[in-house]
Amino acid sequence: MTERLFLGIPFPAETVAALSRQLGHRFPRGLPGRPVPPENWHITLRFLGEVEPDARERLLLALDSEGLGRPFELVLDRLGAFPSNSRARVLWLGSGDRQSAIRELAARVERRVRQAGFPPDERPFSPHLTLARLREPENLRHAIGGGEGPRLTLNVTEIALFRSHLGGPAARYEVVRSLPL
Ligand code: 2AM
Repeated sequence: MTERLFLGIPFPAETVAALSRQLGHRFPRGLPGRPVPPENWHITLRFLGEVEPDARERLLLALDSEGLGRPFELVLDRLGAFPSNSRARVLWLGSGDRQSAIRELAARVERRVRQAGFPPDERPFSPHLTLARLREPENLRHAIGGGEGPRLTLNVTEIALFRSHLGGPAARYEVVRSLPL
């Protein structure tokens, strides 16, 4: 039986509460489209897709075998949309900074994932928290404005291997393994 897996940064409950409050001020009538439920908020480091049990075991061994780096602070302060603000399909919170610490973490994770035998991820890493998804592209230029988002500082002390449960009104993500930094 395969499982749909990804590696990401979980959000502590107090961070979720702080961001919920800030988004409430910024979007008093609610987020556009289909908001991601706050309990699902995370930053994806590496999407893995459908994974066989033996590949999952190899991955967990590779991730345990060497340090993933030190804890760090991640500042999220930019609002934006994929593929563009005027034809938005995904509204995200990201960072105005180059954020080298998260890029280094993602690169280390990518090396472990390849050690475990997964094919390389060819897409450039683009750290973001998905806030809402839109079924049809929408013009969010007005809502996004200059791109200043709620400012959030996340103390990144662990990453996690998540399992996605699709189906139902929203996907549900379950932590399979926490990996402290
Ligand atoms: P998103 O938030 O930008 O949609 C669980 O589905 C996580 O994996 C989400 O954070 C999602 O990113 C990401 N994800 C889903 N499908 C993906 C894919 N095919 N390639 C890369 N990331 C994906």
